Amino acid sequence: GKVGVLFGGRSAERDVSIMSGTGVLQALQSQGVDAHAFDPGQRSLAELAAEQFDRVFIALHGRFGEDGSMQGALEQLGIPYTGSGVMACAVGMDKIYTKIVWLMHGLPTPRYAVLDANSDLDQVAADLGLPLIVKPPHEGSTIGITKVSAAADFKAAYDIAAALDDSVLAEEFVTGREFTVAVLGQGATARALPIVEIVAPEGNYDYQNKYFTDDTKYYCPAALDEATTAEMQRIAVEAYRVLGCEGWGRVDVLLRERDNKPFLLEVNTSPGMTTHSLVPMAARATGISYEQLCVEILRSARL
Ligand code: DAL
Ligand code: MG
Repeated sequence: GKVGVLFGGRSAERDVSIMSGTGVLQALQSQGVDAHAFDPGQRSLAELAAEQFDRVFIALHGRFGEDGSMQGALEQLGIPYTGSGVMACAVGMDKIYTKIVWLMHGLPTPRYAVLDANSDLDQVAADLGLPLIVKPPHEGSTIGITKVSAAADFKAAYDIAAALDDSVLAEEFVTGREFTVAVLGQGATARALPIVEIVAPEGNYDYQNKYFTDDTKYYCPAALDEATTAEMQRIAVEAYRVLGCEGWGRVDVLLRERDNKPFLLEVNTSPGMTTHSLVPMAARATGISYEQLCVEILRSARL
């Protein structure tokens, strides 16, 4: 049948999505899939309906693509789509609600505070300690994120995040190594791929170091002992499952240096599929090519 690859969109991650979607489109076409590009940032839902796609591959990131709103539209149109459903996408796009769900299930995530214009930043800095991390809760690709090392810089970091979002998340800084775990499937069949370790220049895995430099080093499978590997994969799958994620996703994890304890940072329900991206890297480590991965994800599309 006719397949739509949705990419572009209207979020701050539009450019990343174009890189992801271009790769997915070419990969599906190379496998003989009748795949067509569709950019919801430039075309309407009426036009999407008129395309009469039998299925769509969602390669959108961020708001209006990864947050459940597009998934809801596709439900209304009766078009099967890849990845998680409305609820898991909506919760997963919100780093605060994600933490609340994880904490309810006893899963470890760094301590945090939710900030607004009236928050006492000095008190928050005292509670969480310095450095701390300030994030807009609904962005991806590190957009709007600042590491605050001195209390005097907290307000400026708050302002950057507040300009992008209607709430702001402050999070305890966990010193340690950075990992990500790709997960495929859903419910009882959800399974982790090999863990990827990310070693960014000066520990700064920002937008530039994610997509545009070759200075970030990735190790897959990550150099971890068996027990730590198993534990990290277990909590990543659990984190994915309790949010109700389906199809595929990626859970970002920190391993605290002082006691080797893993902390869950966030879930990506529509992870990057660029040439620098990590789900393709993890798949490759198990012998699954980028093209095969795209076909497998597409095959899991459903309503
Ligand atoms: N938000 C980006 C696309 C990722 O997590 O891969
Ligand atoms: Mg993200």
